[in-house]
Amino acid sequence: MSKNILITGASSGIGKAVALEFAKKDGSKNHLILVARNQAKLELVAEEARVLGATVSTFIADLGKTADIAKLFTDLGEKVETLDLVFNNAGLGFVKEVHLLSDDEIEQIIDVNVKGMMLVAKKATQMMIKQGYGHIIFTSSLAGYVLLPTWSVYCASKWGITAFANVLRQEVAKHGIKVTTVHPGPVKTEFFDPNKADVDLSKSAKTMPAIPASDVSAAIYKIAYTDKQRIFCPPSLVVAAEAFRFFPNFMQKMFAKMT
Ligand SMILES: NC(=O)c1ccc[n+]([C@@H]2O[C@H](COP(=O)([O-])OP(=O)(O)OC[C@H]3O[C@@H](n4cnc5c(N)ncnc54)[C@H](OP(=O)(O)O)[C@@H]3O)[C@@H](O)[C@H]2O)c1
Repeated sequence: MSKNILITGASSGIGKAVALEFAKKDGSKNHLILVARNQAKLELVAEEARVLGATVSTFIADLGKTADIAKLFTDLGEKVETLDLVFNNAGLGFVKEVHLLSDDEIEQIIDVNVKGMMLVAKKATQMMIKQGYGHIIFTSSLAGYVLLPTWSVYCASKWGITAFANVLRQEVAKHGIKVTTVHPGPVKTEFFDPNKADVDLSKSAKTMPAIPASDVSAAIYKIAYTDKQRIFCPPSLVVAAEAFRFFPNFMQKMFAKMT
């Protein structure tokens, strides 16, 4: 039987790369359930994955909206009885000093990166508890470990979802469910669209070059269905994350220079 893999934020970037990674590696062994708002882009990813041999379903949902998430899982329940893997990934960031962020931008970050991910995890957990197995992988960020000027709300969202995932892991282990957080540094995706992020990646390019989304998807494929609690992409970023815990003042100054 094919595995049901739910991927949010599958219309571009890391989510798209993960969809294509599973399609490429496992072909027809997977039923990919792709979710995003942009139907045209999502259908292009679905088509590419089908050509690689995967079975694909698409669902349009605004994951910042509670009602859309409820509808997504109602519709999903009519299509599949089990969920093997959930890649809880959809997210965004507006990167500006706090006083320049609009109220709507702050709300969007919190609604999608925090509330949306929590509700998707809650609904997926309810299905997985019934079946007695499953794996939920959250896209957090290096920003879920470090603090950077102009990234305040984004950092808060990623610290928040990392904390949530770490508690969830403790709760659901007894049901055979695994939880992993993924912490990429800069990745070359639409996240850095100039409308959203006023970020000059060249400032951090020497110390932290942006990696292709395919590096992240390859790392995620490797840890799928394992007990890995967290991964950094690239793995060397664990040093920065741990250094931040022990030397927060020094590391904050260092990161501030990069932004
Ligand atoms: N790029 C980086 O450097 C980086 C680093 C660390 C972590 N991350 C995290 O990686 C995840 C994916 O980002 P990305 O870099 O791949 O950026 P991206 O190319 O902009 O992709 C974001 C995805 O999320 C979806 N999305 C955004 N808002 C949504 C909403 N309200 N409802 C449903 N889907 C929504 C988008 O689809 P639609 O627009 O079609 O809805 C898109 O598929 C995010 O959680 C981000 O915080 C990114």
